[in-house]
Amino acid sequence: MPNVVVIGAQWGDEGKGRIVDLISEQMDIITRYQGGNNAGHTIVIGDQKIILHHLPSGILREGKVSVIGNGVVIDPKVLIQELRELREAGYRADSGNLKISDRAHLIMPYHREIDIARESLRGSGKIGTTGRGIGPVYEDKAARRGIKFSDLLDPEYFHDRLKHSLEEQNSYLTKVLGKEPLDFKQIYTEYLEYANELKDFCCNVSELLNRANSEGKNILFEGAQGALLDIDLGTYPYVTSSNAGSGGACTGTGVSPTKIDLVLGIAKAYTTRVGEGPFPSEIGGELEERLREAGGEYGATTGRSRRCGWFDAVALKYAAMTNGISKLAITKLDVLTGFEKLRICVGYKHKGEVLSEFPSNNNVLKNCEPVYEETDGWQEDISAVTDFGELPVQAQDYLKKIEEVTGVSIYAVSLGPSREKIIFISELFQ
Ligand code: IMP
Repeated sequence: MPNVVVIGAQWGDEGKGRIVDLISEQMDIITRYQGGNNAGHTIVIGDQKIILHHLPSGILREGKVSVIGNGVVIDPKVLIQELRELREAGYRADSGNLKISDRAHLIMPYHREIDIARESLRGSGKIGTTGRGIGPVYEDKAARRGIKFSDLLDPEYFHDRLKHSLEEQNSYLTKVLGKEPLDFKQIYTEYLEYANELKDFCCNVSELLNRANSEGKNILFEGAQGALLDIDLGTYPYVTSSNAGSGGACTGTGVSPTKIDLVLGIAKAYTTRVGEGPFPSEIGGELEERLREAGGEYGATTGRSRRCGWFDAVALKYAAMTNGISKLAITKLDVLTGFEKLRICVGYKHKGEVLSEFPSNNNVLKNCEPVYEETDGWQEDISAVTDFGELPVQAQDYLKKIEEVTGVSIYAVSLGPSREKIIFISELFQ
């Protein structure tokens, strides 16, 4: 199997971890390329439920190499805890099967403080971040005062970098956000301990991946969050601070676009969103509550209730265009069982006119009215179905409609969280 990028085609939480886990069986290397522990990828194996925050979902497959790319931001304290829990659950996570980019930036205690303090100051204008320091750490990277993993492993240089950053950040924390300053010595000592625990994982990831590619090995690039949360192409400013789309796979690992063979988009059979921001197909009321309960739509990282809506083909088409998605995996189709009628959003109406493009202006998007096509639901339990032809005809029609209105063909459909609850509809590579 060639090199594949797997991305969320909506606003995150599409069930990427589950699909990556499935495909990674046929891959040699699985690499994360952006985001940090704002992500929460849930994978169910037998009666075990594993939630990964930094680690690629491939870490659960024996004989694979997992990589954290330079575009990822790492909270070392959280990563060390994640590694501990994984080992306790019986999985291997050592320097033989896990490599972390020497260029990945580190989340520092002031990033978390700033993220949380800023959100509370924003009041009703808040973004609804996960409070993990993601925005502030990417800001530091762009402002060229960030701290990379390789800096941490050089105590003298780390001392200088931290001093420089902390001076600026303490001034911001105290003068702008009205918070207490953080103590240099405490952070320095704490982080040197993390360096000691993590140093063996440090790797020149671009070298490793390019070498592996030239030896004919297959690489899976695992996105976090989703296309519509991408800092450049998402619903800005209600986005995360990295390139969650397929472009991030290249800048976040040092592997060029010419080496990517396919982009697989993961989408739920409906839509969810956490945090603030426009959401044209949001359902509202009792029906939304029913869908949330049926789908267990509560965040894996923060436990927040997810907002729920109908499948949005307009947003999906935009995500497919801007990310080169040529195949879709649809997750959680089983959740729609029992709904009398289902809707698919096929257009946005703004001031009486149907828009021809996905709007870049939030004010426009916020005021768009969804145009729906309605289909019949099904009542039969589909969770044990193993073949497309065994699905109720209404479920088959629903999937065909998704293909028709998005223009993207479906590769697989999941009908439950465990590994075997999946139907394959077409080949990934044709
Ligand atoms: P941040 O990434 O913590 O800065 O949050 C920015 C926005 O992205 C918020 O709306 C979050 O709810 C959303 N977000 C961040 N990570 C995820 C994720 O893994 N799934 C879904 N939404 C996310």
